[in-house]
Amino acid sequence: MGLNYYQIKKNILRARKLVIKGTNAAGSGHPGGSFSMAEILGCLFNKYLKFDPKNPQWEDRDRLVLSKGHAAPGLFSNMAVAGYFPESEIETLRKFGSRLQGHPDLKCPGVEFCGGSLGTGLSYSIGIALAAKIDSKNHHVYTIIGDGESDEGQVWEAAMTASKYKVDNLTAFLDRNFIQQDSYTEKVMPLDEKLEGDDISEMWKDASRWKTGDKWRSFGWNVIEINGHRIEQIDAAIAKANATKGVPTIIISRTIKGKSVEHMEDNPQWHGKAPDSDVVPIIDLELDSQFMISPSIIAGDMTNLENEIKRCVSGRADYIHLDVMDGQFVPTKTFDHNKIKELRPLTVIPFDTHLMINNPVRHVKDYIDAGSDIITVHAEVTDESSFGEIHDLLKQNQVGVGFSINPETELPEWSYKFLPSLDQIIVMSVVPGKSGQKYIEETHTKMTRLNSIVKEHNFSGYIEADGGVNLENIGSVFADGARAFVGGGAIIGQQDVRAAIKDFRTEILKSRRRILLEKANELGGIELVNKWIGLHVIGEKQEQLKKIAHEAGYL
Ligand code: DX5
Ligand code: ZN
Repeated sequence: MGLNYYQIKKNILRARKLVIKGTNAAGSGHPGGSFSMAEILGCLFNKYLKFDPKNPQWEDRDRLVLSKGHAAPGLFSNMAVAGYFPESEIETLRKFGSRLQGHPDLKCPGVEFCGGSLGTGLSYSIGIALAAKIDSKNHHVYTIIGDGESDEGQVWEAAMTASKYKVDNLTAFLDRNFIQQDSYTEKVMPLDEKLEGDDISEMWKDASRWKTGDKWRSFGWNVIEINGHRIEQIDAAIAKANATKGVPTIIISRTIKGKSVEHMEDNPQWHGKAPDSDVVPIIDLELDSQFMISPSIIAGDMTNLENEIKRCVSGRADYIHLDVMDGQFVPTKTFDHNKIKELRPLTVIPFDTHLMINNPVRHVKDYIDAGSDIITVHAEVTDESSFGEIHDLLKQNQVGVGFSINPETELPEWSYKFLPSLDQIIVMSVVPGKSGQKYIEETHTKMTRLNSIVKEHNFSGYIEADGGVNLENIGSVFADGARAFVGGGAIIGQQDVRAAIKDFRTEILKSRRRILLEKANELGGIELVNKWIGLHVIGEKQEQLKKIAHEAGYL
């Protein structure tokens, strides 16, 4: 069974957009802390929590306690996406008579705990977890506490209690975003080592400095430390936590406050402030423009693909592109599902399996069983019925569905009906068969054309550019509409994979910022352009934006 990675990502995006809609409508609220836990909530609601939105009081439901109750917009938006109430209700946030108040309130169906007065959620969670044990119930209790919140003494009393009573039907998350009400946690009450300056991204880079976990270990907890925005890491941590008996588990999730909206990220201002209406469409466009980088390992040492996987892991790839070639669909032969099965245990990073094989319908099950997270087959070797079979099998197994077209192939009309449920379209920008080729320039217009077709058919997946993508062309490939980027020669072919991926990200960011400034200019001229630039107060973002705005002629 796959991770359902793409479905989870899609729902997380819907929830983030609802947080922006709700806080903007309310003119107040907490987007920052809602976004730092967005992936955690997304995994819980879309993969682990047992619940029935039509029967919120179902006695065997799992319980989710949001101890950091100010992040209510994050909770409510996930509940809306999960079907507890219509998504439109989020616009009643914080209004008189609404079920969606500034902090979770039991008047809202599905809310387990009135959080908001910080420090009490863990105690409450222990109480209901112990009650479940006494009543020999086997539902699970999940609770999310904030790092600033863990300055409260009651959190540590509760920590002692949970380990004394071996409360192992409880999984806690620490949303470790390094920011509380009005400043950085490490300035108010350090949980880790002394924070140098204001650049908390340094803390992010050097996990060896993290000491918060040691505190929880000394209180007798099982501690798992993860990147709290990596769905695959959250998924693996929850599975491990739920399998750990005799001791409570806390998943210390290193997160970024305001994650996914650049001007909110790591910015204490967005702890409790709502976005203005005039920038909401630009924020929505930014949220819709999340991107992924996927190194193609066949550009490396084919005799040691294990090491190529390890290079992707240390390089922090978003997912890993596995080019399967059968020597018939393309002249080259690379590897098959047996190799993927061997590589699978090396990492939880999603496997993006690109099948350049004949008759894929006969083999796709092997690639599901080998552990692929998304499987892409080619239009040239499928038709409506065989692709329909592949599509249904992948959906049943919670594996992402991908469809690929060669440079000379247009998207076949028969495929349009699959577009609303497709997760990825690979637009080949080289003739398939090997890495290290040159990007075929005609792909630019083809991708722009494809982008408008798929938009008309409710495609909400990723267009993946595959072949010859490099630092010179990636900015324009992003502008053409690609949101996933395969890098063979330009990433795996480089000495330092992490640096190559970082450079890819920098170039894509420049292109995205240019598109967002263009949107600001279109909506509100130089005034809104300046307002948008002015929002970016952390680090060098503002300088970089001004430079782009100058180049584009706005300033
Ligand atoms: C080509 C493969 C591509 C290729 C990418 O048939 O599908 O994924 O390995 O490598 P570069 O980025 O070097 O073109
Ligand atoms: Zn490929």
